[in-house]
Amino acid sequence: MTTGDEHSRINRAAWNRMADQYQEILAEMGTPSELTWGWWRHPEQRLGVLGEVAGRDVLDLGCGAAGWARRLADHGATVVGLDASARQLAHAGAAATAGARTVALVNGDAERLPFADASFDVAVSNWGALSFSDPYVAVPEAARVLRPGGLLVVCTSSPIYRLCTAPDADQPGTEIRCGYSDLHRSPGTTGTVRFQLP
Ligand SMILES: C[S@@+](CC[C@H](N)C(=O)[O-])C[C@H]1O[C@@H](n2cnc3c(N)ncnc32)[C@H](O)[C@@H]1O
Repeated sequence: MTTGDEHSRINRAAWNRMADQYQEILAEMGTPSELTWGWWRHPEQRLGVLGEVAGRDVLDLGCGAAGWARRLADHGATVVGLDASARQLAHAGAAATAGARTVALVNGDAERLPFADASFDVAVSNWGALSFSDPYVAVPEAARVLRPGGLLVVCTSSPIYRLCTAPDADQPGTEIRCGYSDLHRSPGTTGTVRFQLP
């Protein structure tokens, strides 16, 4: 079991270490022209979870190199991209100013958001901070910075995917390998601490 400070430190260090390789993999996959969710790139246009973002204040929790944040800005949103990893944000630096609109970048932790209450209309985590922070802390924190009626959208793996992934494996198998109660907090394959609250 890790404390909040411990898992934040572990995950920040892991993402600083992995950032260059992660961005290389994303570059090889190519940049999607539209807003798409997750590793399998489900189009927002088909899922329709965000609604209209033009004119809205949007917070991207765990923005990485700000690909999503930048596309949200292209749709007319005012976007802040937050990430715990300075190395990920270094990749975002060039990307975030390359489009027609700029995206504000903040180095910070989803469990301790450096924003005033009721600052945003929408918060998103596209395999982002909410997969690596304690939902009992990060969800109320997201709610705090959202305006009344605000929307929090989290894209993460399904409980079945996690249940079938052995602690030392990086891909799921065909058998249940951990208990449902282990899903809240579990060791990730890349030296991270993973969280999932189904
Ligand atoms: C799998 S990457 C996803 C990045 C981006 N959303 C994307 O779609 O490419 C997860 C990101 O979450 C960030 N992250 C992890 N824990 C975080 C935390 N507690 N607060 C803020 N960012 C965090 C990592 O640094 C990393 O950039």
